[in-house]
Amino acid sequence: MEIRVQQGNIAQFQADCIVVNLFQGVTEPGGATAAVDAALGGAIRELIAAGDFVGESHATVLLHARGRLPASWVLVVGLGPPERFDHHRARRAAAAAVRALRKVPSVRHLATVVHGGGAGGLDVSLAARSVAEGTLLAAYRMPQYRREVPEQRPERCTVVEFASERLAAVEKGVAQARAIVQGVSTARDLVAEPPNLLTPVEMAARARQVADSVGLKVTVLDEAAMRELGMGILLAVSQGSANEAQLIVLEHAPEGHQEEPPWVVVGKGITFDTGGISLKRAEDMWYMKDDMGGAAAVIGALEAVARLQVPRRVIGVAACVENMPDGRAYRPGDILTGMTGKTVEVISTDAEGRLVLADALAYVARFRPQAVVDLATLTGAIGVALGSQAAGCFANDPALQEALLAAAERSGERLWPMPMWEEYKESIRSDMAEVKNSGGRRSGVSSSAKFLEHFTEGYPWAHLDIASMVWVDNGQVPELPAGPTGYGVRLLVHWLAGEHL
Ligand code: BES
Ligand code: MN
Ligand code: ZN
Repeated sequence: MEIRVQQGNIAQFQADCIVVNLFQGVTEPGGATAAVDAALGGAIRELIAAGDFVGESHATVLLHARGRLPASWVLVVGLGPPERFDHHRARRAAAAAVRALRKVPSVRHLATVVHGGGAGGLDVSLAARSVAEGTLLAAYRMPQYRREVPEQRPERCTVVEFASERLAAVEKGVAQARAIVQGVSTARDLVAEPPNLLTPVEMAARARQVADSVGLKVTVLDEAAMRELGMGILLAVSQGSANEAQLIVLEHAPEGHQEEPPWVVVGKGITFDTGGISLKRAEDMWYMKDDMGGAAAVIGALEAVARLQVPRRVIGVAACVENMPDGRAYRPGDILTGMTGKTVEVISTDAEGRLVLADALAYVARFRPQAVVDLATLTGAIGVALGSQAAGCFANDPALQEALLAAAERSGERLWPMPMWEEYKESIRSDMAEVKNSGGRRSGVSSSAKFLEHFTEGYPWAHLDIASMVWVDNGQVPELPAGPTGYGVRLLVHWLAGEHL
């Protein structure tokens, strides 16, 4: 979807549909909604009076303009009660509008006001960014693999702002949203791609494309390079696969920040997780193409950070491996040695994510990072604990945890703090090696984080378990159409950009 900004009066605007809004409890609409209502001879007020539309958060009603306006259609979207309004509701309202208009074949071009920019009292560029973000996120469509691809509607959006003195702020917010959602869409596309096509080598090719288009530095370590570095734990996971593992390193180093210690993000990139010799049941396997959601979020976040020209040095590492059973595959019982020299006893080859991350987390110590955050679809248990409402946040540094939780709150991608007590180490103690890779079902989430902690020496670190966040089946949240969510990109951008966003 293409989005642009124009100065004007939305009631006079020529588009297939214009979108205005209504706060819950308002019986006499004001502003743009009032102007449109007047042109329609009071149709909106009638709906309110009849109780047919009361402005509930992200509810919509569609009216035909019947020649009384330059636009063919009017969509009114609810903003909910004024006292509960915030930029999340503005984003959601814009997304709900796109969602509703997808069902109207004649709407190719929509025009919208900046929800919350007037009566809502939001900062104008935050409101504009939220509206553009909701619009673009809701308009996403997965890559298509069929001979006849249906056209994508609506295809164009104009954000119409009446006050010319606010135009620059609206432009700024819309430009930020464009940059962020391009990163989100990159992550979503990668997660959606089928695992036969999106192998680790193809992930690296896609990362190079992204890097070339936005000016990131890119380095890819192949298996020989990783062997040279002693990454025996990561390589063990890969040894049953015909597809070579790749460690992708992206770097954003803007002028004047090239020498500073970087902020580092690391993503689990299992392009398909069969479970290996500890094979998954068929019911739990078919959707395991999304087990590279952490790596996808890292690539998408680096893209967005480059597009936003964030004035900080940022490094992203995507550890891409396929986990397959085979005559050469690693086995339960194997003892592995990785980059740090620490040994791991394999209990389950299905606890492969933490193995791949062990060497990736050891590798990033060389950058002398200010902080490291990893994102991984690590455990099914995190979904049992938190559902699809939040990812789990494990941190060994209170300030880092604080910063991540605040970024989560601003971005709308939720995080919830999880414990890292020493006692959780008990369950992953091995009789033969330094640590084992599974502690059994009880406290499986926290022991997986404790496992990773073994390999995070020398920097503040946090682990985000995003297993229940990378894919949605239902599409109940307007800005998350059924399919890949791109979870983590917005959160990371808010963390990395800090006060610069
Ligand atoms: N990729 C899975 C985790 C997962 C499960 C993601 C369900 C999304 C949905 C991970 O590699 C895995 O298999 N984890 C095991 C760990 C266990 C063997 C210790 C799990 O959660 O069952
Ligand atoms: Mn697994
Ligand atoms: Zn996995």
